[in-house]
Amino acid sequence: MSAISVRNLVKKFGSLTAVDGISFDVEKGEIFGFLGPNGAGKTTTINILVTLMRPTSGEAYVAGYNVVEEPVKVRERIGIVFQDPSVDRNLTGWENLYIHGLVYGLRGEELRRRVEESLEFAELTKFKDVEVKNYSGGMIRRLEIARGLMHKPEILFLDEPTIGLDPQTRAKIWEYVEKLRDEEGVTVFLTTHYIEEAERLCDRVAIIDHGRIVAMGSPDELKQGIGKDVIYVRVGDNSSAARLLEGLNKGMLVSYKELNGVLALSVSNASKAIPTVFEVASRMGIRIEEIKYTQPSLSDVFLHYTGREMRDEEADWREVIRMRHRMR
Ligand SMILES: Nc1ncnc2c1ncn2[C@@H]1O[C@H](COP(=O)(O)OP(=O)(O)OP(=O)(O)O)[C@@H](O)[C@H]1O
Ligand SMILES: [Mg+2]
Repeated sequence: MSAISVRNLVKKFGSLTAVDGISFDVEKGEIFGFLGPNGAGKTTTINILVTLMRPTSGEAYVAGYNVVEEPVKVRERIGIVFQDPSVDRNLTGWENLYIHGLVYGLRGEELRRRVEESLEFAELTKFKDVEVKNYSGGMIRRLEIARGLMHKPEILFLDEPTIGLDPQTRAKIWEYVEKLRDEEGVTVFLTTHYIEEAERLCDRVAIIDHGRIVAMGSPDELKQGIGKDVIYVRVGDNSSAARLLEGLNKGMLVSYKELNGVLALSVSNASKAIPTVFEVASRMGIRIEEIKYTQPSLSDVFLHYTGREMRDEEADWREVIRMRHRMR
């Protein structure tokens, strides 16, 4: 059984279709990410999965339960970290977790133990008696994740876990989320508009744009899917380059260029194509002086499927302003 299973999910707000017929499965113990720009429908999807919003049509199962028919069963099995900070800034880290535990029905010794454990796991024990308003953005995010984990959920939902954080803090949060998967076996569903986050952290990624999943797979699969590994072969002079190009089966090339004795070969899979290039060159008596290849990044993949580039910095600024606004 999948941890999350979604079939033809649709959410309309009046005439706007925010989620437009998406289907996907998240396996147990994986980190699955929704990568998409502002307004793509990421938060709307999360809101449906965590039972805060009803879909217009389609079905979603979380931990085996239908989100519309058995919302309480779903809620018992999940943890949530919202896009906007939702801790109480005037309380300490310890108090925030304690109150959350009370809400979830934990009491007495067990509650105290869970609070301490969660603080320890988030590496916040030293700061547990400090008011949250004195925490850094990264500490607040770790506290929120720790809070989402207090009732030991099977599945954790993270809506933009590292939004507006600096690169070092972001990397720490990634480590923390990986630790959750590796040591606690938690399934993680996250959304992000950071390409690097999807690439570095997610086992599988769905690229979402205008409410639709335009591509889905592991970061490697997505990159291979756009068939754009580029192999550079230097053979020394133009005539050898032209001869080598003649000898190669054009069927294996997505495209090619030749410049000053260097062939740039665009292929779907460089590790398969490189041996062939050597073989053909050796058969034709052409000496290869240098060969190297580069892989496309997930930004190339995003551009390929959406026709647009993602600009992290712009999004960052917008987010920071938005977040400050809401925290006030
Ligand atoms: N409650 C609502 N009422 C009307 N429209 C909404 C509502 N919630 C979201 N929308 C719209 O639905 C679309 C998807 O919004 P959503 O918040 O899911 O996007 P997102 O991918 O999370 O974007 P962001 O990166 O800004 O968080 C947007 O056009 C948004 O304006
Ligand atoms: Mg959102």
